[in-house]
Amino acid sequence: MQQITTDRIVIVGGGMGALYAALKLAPYPVVMISPETLGEGASSAWAQGGVAAAMDPTDSPESHSTDTLRAGAGTVDPEVAAQVTREAREHILDLTEMGTPFDRDDKGGYVLSREAAHSFARVVRVKGDQAGAEIMKALIARVQETPSVQVLEGVMASGLETSDGRVTGIWVETSGQDRSKPVLLRGAAFLMAGGGSGGLYKLTTNPARIRGQVIGMAARAGAVIADAEFVQFHPTAIDMGEDPAPLATEALRGEGATLINSDGERFMLPIHPDAELAPRDIVARAIYAQTQAGKRPMLDTRAVLGEKVLTQFPSVAEACARAGIDPVHDPIPVAAAAHYHMGGIATDMQGHSSLENLWVCGEASSTGLHGANRLASNGLLEALVYARICAVGIEDAVGEVPAEAPEISLDFQPGGVAPDEAAIDRLRRCMTDNVGVVRDAEGLQRALRIIAELEADNADCPGFLNMTATATLIAAGALMREESRGAHHRSDFPDSTGEHGDRSMLTLAEATAL
Ligand code: SIN
Repeated sequence: MQQITTDRIVIVGGGMGALYAALKLAPYPVVMISPETLGEGASSAWAQGGVAAAMDPTDSPESHSTDTLRAGAGTVDPEVAAQVTREAREHILDLTEMGTPFDRDDKGGYVLSREAAHSFARVVRVKGDQAGAEIMKALIARVQETPSVQVLEGVMASGLETSDGRVTGIWVETSGQDRSKPVLLRGAAFLMAGGGSGGLYKLTTNPARIRGQVIGMAARAGAVIADAEFVQFHPTAIDMGEDPAPLATEALRGEGATLINSDGERFMLPIHPDAELAPRDIVARAIYAQTQAGKRPMLDTRAVLGEKVLTQFPSVAEACARAGIDPVHDPIPVAAAAHYHMGGIATDMQGHSSLENLWVCGEASSTGLHGANRLASNGLLEALVYARICAVGIEDAVGEVPAEAPEISLDFQPGGVAPDEAAIDRLRRCMTDNVGVVRDAEGLQRALRIIAELEADNADCPGFLNMTATATLIAAGALMREESRGAHHRSDFPDSTGEHGDRSMLTLAEATAL
């Protein structure tokens, strides 16, 4: 077994939180572990809408925080919401300084989009619907010119080594189908920034590789997982059989696009006073109900945008073209798809997990910002804010910059075990069918049985066990939460137990004991 000890900080992930943290930690030497080439395969690069921040002089962090609390259905931590919304503006200015070409108006002000459940237009955007990809581009360029950052591409983490509740090392292996044997990497401190779990579902807007591995890995090492049952389904994934499903950004509805069904009915009107701009969970359930009733839901941009959809929303236009849809003349078929995991590795306000020496930022974390229903475009914002917070905490913990921290060289040997594609497919179907937009006890118990079977059949593959650990936690959390709240909807417990709800805190041992 190869084992390497380094004075570098180990960052798991290649998305926005990972890149930003690596820059904030400079000149402290770090090594980033990214399963794919930087810029590819990270959910942040696919984010269309942008970053929420009170940039308009009539808007305020307080209003942003109030909207975050309201959308979160009584489980948002008010202190976290205040902290994140207060710091939003300075991160936008920082990203601008780093070269992000945010869209500007004639007077040089930021162009701000409106998205559901925001009281103001407050989502900064880039080239219409390309915020994630463009911010990533700017950060990657910076990282590539920062000598303290070593990036290992094509490598993924598969397990954590702990000693008395302290993380001491991380097992890594090659990320392709030809897996290597794992190598143990011992570092100064560990930051998990490797994304959420959307790909555990058959219908998802997340990149294919994002399947809850990071959350599962931490859970298998004993970390506490918060709000696992809160999975956000995006109402308007383009439903033309592509896997993952491309997104039709909520900003389209902000521009006035409507939702209709195959009978031509504008079905959101009787459901909520804000119609298409109702909170995301409400719109997702309405879309799901239309699908279940056999009335195909569609997003209609024709009247409000016409040909402008092609230039103002180039990513959406490109996805439509791939699917043979002409959004200028035809409505876009949509479905509710797993989009964002509000739950994750529980952190405190310093981004520190329940395991010593392990910090978390981005979608893998559960800081308490999102509650049961994340406000649109608060995801990238949280990743940025907590990446910096984690960097500060890690620096305090590790102390002086080491005099030397040579680059790491990993000598991977063949002979590892890659997850079985048929097992992944069964897991994904099981999650969509039983732990999806609408849940009940019978389906959740069925899911837990199937996941346990899959686990027993694949016990030699840590990469797969990381996925089933997260799936178990989501299903168990959903079974234990006998109420409906935000994105978690139980048909057998359709009401909330009160205006405010408790955050759930669960270990894998507790979840598997159910
Ligand atoms: C969208 O653009 O609709 C997604 C934005 C988000 O999920 O925050």
